Amino acid sequence: MKAIVLSGGKGTRLRPLTYTGAKQLVPVANKPILWYGLEAIAACGITEIGIIISPETGDEVKAKTGDGSQFGAQITYILQDQPAGLAHAVKIAQPFLGDAPFVMYLGDNLVEGCLDGLVDQFKTNTLDALTLLCEVPNPTAFGVAEVDKTGRILRLVEKPKVPPSNLALVGVYLFSPKIHEAIAQIQPSARGELEITDAIQKLIDLNHKVEAFKLRGWWLDTGKKDDLLEANRLILDNYLQSSIRGDVDERSQISGRVEIGEGAKIVNSTIRGPVSIGRHCHIENCFIGPYSSIADGVTLVETDLEHSVVLQQAKIVGIHQRIVDSVIGQRANLRVAPQRPKALRFMIGDDCQIDLA
Ligand code: DAU
Repeated sequence: MKAIVLSGGKGTRLRPLTYTGAKQLVPVANKPILWYGLEAIAACGITEIGIIISPETGDEVKAKTGDGSQFGAQITYILQDQPAGLAHAVKIAQPFLGDAPFVMYLGDNLVEGCLDGLVDQFKTNTLDALTLLCEVPNPTAFGVAEVDKTGRILRLVEKPKVPPSNLALVGVYLFSPKIHEAIAQIQPSARGELEITDAIQKLIDLNHKVEAFKLRGWWLDTGKKDDLLEANRLILDNYLQSSIRGDVDERSQISGRVEIGEGAKIVNSTIRGPVSIGRHCHIENCFIGPYSSIADGVTLVETDLEHSVVLQQAKIVGIHQRIVDSVIGQRANLRVAPQRPKALRFMIGDDCQIDLA
C-alpha cells in the first residue's frame, strides 16, 4: 500500500499566514500540521509516500519535510501546476501510485488516532473506497454522505446547500486502483475542480465496493484561525509531554505540562501548562497560560498570553493587557510605542484581523 498527502492548493482561508507560506506548514503545538498526517501514515507501516505540492509553496514544503527519513518513509514530491481539485491531484499522482491501493490524506487535516482500523477494514472487505465520516454541526462546509441504517453510503455531495445528513467526509480516504477509472469519467464541478467526492459517487454508481468508517475521536480541518487554535488545544491536551531543555531562572514558576526547547531562556515568568515553547525563545516578566504554543526564536517581554499561537521570531514587548485566542504571525512585532501622542499605530498586512478591547 502507498499513500499520497495533499499539500498543494491556495490556502486562502488562513490568510494572512498563508501569504508567506504553505498552510500545511503552519505549526500546531510547534509541529507543522502536515507532519501529523505523515506520522500517522508511517505508523501503520506505509513507507512510500507521495506529497502533492504547488509551484508557490512546494519548495518550502520540500525544504522543511525532506526525504522522509525522519518519518521512516521515502517521500516523492509530485508537482501539481494548479489547484484543479482533489481528484486532479490523484490523477497526476497516478505514475507514482501505479496499481497500488493507497491512502489519501489531506495535508491540512488533523485526525485523532492511528489509521490501523481503517486499513484493516479496507483490506478485510476488499474495498474500492473507504471514506472516513464524522458528525459535524456545519455540514454545508464539507463533502457530506447520506448513509442507510447499516452505514452503507447511498450518496455523496460536495458542500451541499441542503445537506442530506450531518456526516462530513473527513480528509482521509483509502482507494483501490479502480478510483483512477472513476476519475477518468467525471467532469469539473461548479467551482471548477475535479472533486474526489464525485469520483467516489461514480464508484458507487458503478456498483463498486464503497464503505464508510465512522470516526469516534476528534477531527479538525485547520482552515481558519479558530480551527487552528482548537487543533493546538487538542494536541497540547492529548500529546504534550513535559521536557525542559532551556534555562529557567529561579524566579520563574513552571506548572503543569510544559515543553521548553534548547537555548530558550525563561526569566522571572510564570508558565502554566499545557504550553509548548520552541528553541531559542526569550521570555521575561511574562505569564504564559494554558494552550499556548510559542515557536522558535520568539521574544516575549512583559506580556500575558494564553490560548494563543505565536509563530517564529515574533516579538511582543510590554503589552499590559492579556492576549487570548490569538495567532501572531512570523516576525510580527507587537509593542507599546514610546512616542507621544499616546495612540495606536499600525502597520498591518493584508487580511489581518485585529480585535481591540
Ligand atoms: O477537510 C475535509 C474536506 O476536504 C472534505 O469534507 C471535502 O469533501 C473535500 O473536498 C475537502 O474540501 P476542502 O474545500 O476543505 O478542500 P481544500 O481545498 O481545503 O483542500 C484540502 C487539501 O488538499 C489542502 O491541504 C490543499 C490540498 N489541495 C487542494 C486542492 C483543491 C491540493 O493539494 N490540490 C488541490 O487541487
